[in-house]
Amino acid sequence: MDCRSDIYHLVSQGYSLSDPYVMKNLYEYGYSAKEIASTINQHFDIDITIERKFIQALLNLHKDRDLENLPNSNNYWHKLNIDIAPLAIDLKDYILSDPYRSGEHASYNADTGGVWTLDSNMLFSKEWLEYLENDFSIFPGHVQLFYKNKNAQHSVAHVDVSSTGTLHGGAINWTLDLDDAEMVWYETPDYEHTGKVKTTINDQSKEWPISGLKELDRCHVGQKATLVRTDVPHTVDMGNTDRWAVSFRILTALTWQTHVTVLENYIQK
Ligand SMILES: [Fe+2]
Repeated sequence: MDCRSDIYHLVSQGYSLSDPYVMKNLYEYGYSAKEIASTINQHFDIDITIERKFIQALLNLHKDRDLENLPNSNNYWHKLNIDIAPLAIDLKDYILSDPYRSGEHASYNADTGGVWTLDSNMLFSKEWLEYLENDFSIFPGHVQLFYKNKNAQHSVAHVDVSSTGTLHGGAINWTLDLDDAEMVWYETPDYEHTGKVKTTINDQSKEWPISGLKELDRCHVGQKATLVRTDVPHTVDMGNTDRWAVSFRILTALTWQTHVTVLENYIQK
């Protein structure tokens, strides 16, 4: 088999490209990071260009992994030993001075809240993004910014769906200010979702009314880097403060299991 067929074969089993199983196998088949990256760019329909160093970081992370002993991913959040970056811009001022910039605006209602998609390079310093890349093998994707007014309580929970239609497993979240809200997770119901909401330019989420869902866990995210699960229904239970939250997407992970595996050494015990 060639690199293209091998990748197709692995992905057709239901694994994402960044999955440890896929990377370990491609390494064992003898493909170089350069070969894998150029094959993906030529033959796979993804919206970004995959760089050799990105694949190399994944190979380094997963080539020696014991696939029988991946970390437990039967959980919903983890506090991380990662320093939060000071923002390079006054984010609230940037958003509120023009909430409808093209390429960023997803939804906005001054009374309830909004969602925006932002470029990590605009939001964070080059040094901090390099620190993530070099120290944690985290390659930054886009950032979603969530604003919720303190009086806006959500009556639905949702799962995050990527532009290709697959579930997106996780994100690193934190809030800009002190707040008293909690993120809440629910059991995925066995009935079809009742709505679809556009959360970013490309992505959608599927949602269900909270009433009738079984709560599984909750966590105060606050101003600490928190790995949160997004492939099971979740929502934010608002407290008495407005909430601005940054949600940092990791390119080096798609499924929740991969998020936990990539970050297992930086999870607070
Ligand atoms: Fe979400």
